[in-house]
Amino acid sequence: MYSEKVMDHFQNPRNVGEIENASGMGTVGNAKCGDIMRMYLDIDENQVIREVKFKTFGCGAAVATSSMATELVKGKTVQEAMQITNQAVAEALDGLPPVKMHCSLLAEEAIHAALWDYAQKNHLTIEGLSKPKTDIGEEEEDEEY
Ligand code: FES
Repeated sequence: MYSEKVMDHFQNPRNVGEIENASGMGTVGNAKCGDIMRMYLDIDENQVIREVKFKTFGCGAAVATSSMATELVKGKTVQEAMQITNQAVAEALDGLPPVKMHCSLLAEEAIHAALWDYAQKNHLTIEGLSKPKTDIGEEEEDEEY
């Protein structure tokens, strides 16, 4: 049911962990399955994503898609990262079973939530980016919520 790439990224996820003082951090959850994904981005002054880490408390497809998503955004500019959709992540993994496509959406949303956090902190507007609906944030850091 899963491609070799999905199994590989599930068994050996890349870029697992966290970044202290990340430029942007986003936490998203899927209300239906209860899975949670957190993405950390380290972005330099040229808006290039230098480092990216993630933590996923979720199903195998969520782990594999977040791992692949981190590989895809690393080294990209913020604008390029905006182009990385869940479809692109799923394609890079040689496909996901239809019932698991929503898991890849979590990866896209986590990138967007982390970019939103970065934009907020730096008073920037990122074209095409809107406030994430599912960012569950961290209460101690997010006075606005
Ligand atoms: Fe929840 Fe996959 S089943 S993210």
